[in-house]
Amino acid sequence: MKIKKQNLEKMLIKIFMKHKLDKDHAKLCSDALINAEFVEAYSHGLSRLKMYCDRIQKKLINPKPKIKDIKITNSISLIDADNSIGFVAADFAIKKAIHNAKKTGIGLVGIKNSGHYGLSGYYAEQAVKKNLIAMIFTNAPPAVAPHGSLKSLFGTNPICFGCPSGSKIPFIFDSSISMINRGKIRFAARENKKIPENVALDKFGKPTTNAKRALQGVQLPIAGFRGSGLAWMVDILSGVVTGGNHAGRVKDPFDDFSGPQNIGHLMITFKSNIFNIDFNKRIKENIKIIKKLPKIKKVKKIFYPGENKFLKFRKNKDRLINLNKKTQQELKALLD
Ligand SMILES: NC(=O)c1ccc[n+]([C@@H]2O[C@H](COP(=O)([O-])OP(=O)(O)OC[C@H]3O[C@@H](n4cnc5c(N)ncnc54)[C@H](O)[C@@H]3O)[C@@H](O)[C@H]2O)c1
Repeated sequence: MKIKKQNLEKMLIKIFMKHKLDKDHAKLCSDALINAEFVEAYSHGLSRLKMYCDRIQKKLINPKPKIKDIKITNSISLIDADNSIGFVAADFAIKKAIHNAKKTGIGLVGIKNSGHYGLSGYYAEQAVKKNLIAMIFTNAPPAVAPHGSLKSLFGTNPICFGCPSGSKIPFIFDSSISMINRGKIRFAARENKKIPENVALDKFGKPTTNAKRALQGVQLPIAGFRGSGLAWMVDILSGVVTGGNHAGRVKDPFDDFSGPQNIGHLMITFKSNIFNIDFNKRIKENIKIIKKLPKIKKVKKIFYPGENKFLKFRKNKDRLINLNKKTQQELKALLD
């Protein structure tokens, strides 16, 4: 079944409001989920709707959070998100980081007591559209074993960097530190599909392409100990520094209902022309030089990070949105 964006939006807002979110918060959540569908990040879109609603029902996500903005300086804030749904916490925080950077040149915002917020790049883009450079970090539930360990502890802890590109397509590098993100494995498990080779081990430490076995086992980090080091860095920045959970204590949103997630995020924003007034000219030149490099066989074009997602968004934004059977059933049950 295919559905118009406007109709899906109405449904999602209704569902979130039924789960006691205010209308503006319900709209924020709906926008983030629909954006994930448009950029084809299906593992972070409608496939997570039921999980968010389940956690609200179990009182693990607070639908009416009293978000505290603890001002440290004109540039620096700590946000206590009061166990809000991650979308609302992250939206509040990026707006604060943008405000601080516009005022002082740089914004540094830590967030604690938050939840899963979807795609980091979605928030970085907001800052980039205001001519800022953005770096965004979040930790996530255990999925990846620290180098040398037999147990998953780090999340897929995405690292996100965004900057203006001198064109209307922002430069957004936004990547998990695992070979693939956990949402893709969950999505494959849900749809009974295989996962690629060399991305996960089962619980006995054997390589597997079975998504369900991979979820019980361990995901592999990118580039061995280097990826493990990056995951650790993200855990420190988003968890240890902010007051959020860390060291494997972020709860899995799908199957750990023993308490709120208390995820931490860190957002850093600064004016792109802070050191060089001609940043726009310099970034255009930088991208032009790289794009003109000789290409390997079968590669027609060198893309910069973010281009692929932007092109997907542009292709899909005016099309009907596809709802698979499972999503249709979940939407119906949540609306009833
Ligand atoms: N909230 C969470 O807990 C959480 C956890 C993990 C991942 N995520 C999100 O999941 C999303 C997907 O993560 P991912 O690791 O699967 O990303 P990915 O592997 O699809 O892409 C990683 C980066 O590489 C770039 N890229 C892809 N193909 C390219 C090409 N041909 N040339 C140049 N650049 C290219 C993309 O634009 C992107 O910036 C991210 O938005 C991330 O924030 C969220």
